[in-house]
Amino acid sequence: MTTLRLRPEGPADTAPVRRVLTAAFARPDVATPPEVRLVEDLRGTDAWIPELAMVAEYGGEVVGYALLTRVQVRDDDQPAPALALGPVAVAPHRQRIGHGTAVVQAALDAATELGERLVVVLGDPAYYRRFGFTRADRMGLTSPWSGLGDPWQALVLPASTSGDGLVPRGEVLFPPPWSKV
Ligand SMILES: CC(C)(COP(=O)(O)OP(=O)(O)OC[C@H]1O[C@@H](n2cnc3c(N)ncnc32)[C@H](O)[C@@H]1OP(=O)(O)O)[C@@H](O)C(=O)NCCC(=O)NCCS
Repeated sequence: MTTLRLRPEGPADTAPVRRVLTAAFARPDVATPPEVRLVEDLRGTDAWIPELAMVAEYGGEVVGYALLTRVQVRDDDQPAPALALGPVAVAPHRQRIGHGTAVVQAALDAATELGERLVVVLGDPAYYRRFGFTRADRMGLTSPWSGLGDPWQALVLPASTSGDGLVPRGEVLFPPPWSKV
């Protein structure tokens, strides 16, 4: 039986990941969706955490992607590390059969293993609430998107054996590639 394989991306995945993102975020008015550029601009920066760029592979084909990258929370002027989730994408021919849920959960589990405590996301609450995300502004987290209300969300990861166990609050600072999306 073919099963879904969840694993961090490797060098051979760059083109397949681009294909998945391009297909999932396709719009008639743009040849390259901004989400493709976001991933490619983040890759190789300090924000990139190789273990947290997760692909879902089915029958040898990359069909899904969930990316967690580094952001900082300005907490009492002292930056504290957190993660941003996104983009999340599943190839259109494999959507709505659980791959998106599986690849996001795998990325969150890997982050917990690494001792990470906080993840933010901008997206549809109807989708992200299944992972436990709730409104980030109510957790004292702000960003250029906090005025949007419901879509600006955050998740405190379960306590892990590593890390200091503290959850930062304050302004979430995204690295420059995010300003283009
Ligand atoms: C969003 C996306 C990643 C979900 O992946 P998926 O594999 O189709 O999702 P799953 O099969 O794990 O989950 C399906 C569930 O999510 C819901 N869902 C799917 N896309 C959704 C969306 N855009 N908004 C809200 N709910 C959505 C479905 O209704 C379904 O709900 P159910 O479990 O209650 O039946 C995928 O549809 C996709 O790539 N979309 C285009 C890119 C995109 O919008 N990415 C998210 C940016 S925030």
